[in-house]
Amino acid sequence: MNNYKNVFVVNHPLCCHNLSIIRDKNTTAEVFRNAIRRITYLLFYKATEDLELEDCSIETPLENCICQRLNSKKEIIIAPILRAGLIFSDIANEIMPYATVRHIGMYRDEDTLTPVWYYNKIPVEFDNPEDKIILILDPMLATGNSAIDAIKLFANKKVPHKNIRFVSLISAPEGLKKVQNLYPDVKIITASIDNCLNSSGYIRPGLGDAGDRIFNTVIN
Ligand code: URA
Repeated sequence: MNNYKNVFVVNHPLCCHNLSIIRDKNTTAEVFRNAIRRITYLLFYKATEDLELEDCSIETPLENCICQRLNSKKEIIIAPILRAGLIFSDIANEIMPYATVRHIGMYRDEDTLTPVWYYNKIPVEFDNPEDKIILILDPMLATGNSAIDAIKLFANKKVPHKNIRFVSLISAPEGLKKVQNLYPDVKIITASIDNCLNSSGYIRPGLGDAGDRIFNTVIN
């Protein structure tokens, strides 16, 4: 339980265990990436648990039976925020190979802590926006500024807010409040709500810069 309407914390023992690995500053990039991958499966279990199904008729080797499959009218769009979101999108694509991947290129201006766009291949408008299910992926929900810009991108194209999910590893209360105030119907799935942000907009205790640690670009 938490105080936010639509924030789901996946505090499964395996998430907690793997979070302890990725928070450790001595964890190597390879071990860091693998621990995130293990958590990603658990986050996506939660993020996709209410996808709509439809009945279908299947012929097994023995007989006909009625099964359920994902509603074929709905298009699932995986939207990783570059670059750290890529660590989630590989797994998301593995478990939902029929999904569309739409990358969002944004980096954080370290002075203003606001997002700077550099890549956006989202169509100007969507046909049937009500049939799109959007999974925005970013391991760190810190100030909430990039999350809000990414959500706005789809909300402005008339995708219902309830169809938009934001998947993160670690979230800061400041960012969660900001996103939930503007978009209360967007579901946020995270493995941890940490204490606060520091003056540079990093999550405490957090894990440092997720992109640098995933891609081993930490400058010592
Ligand atoms: N981005 C990160 O990679 N880490 C933080 O703590 C905040 C934003």
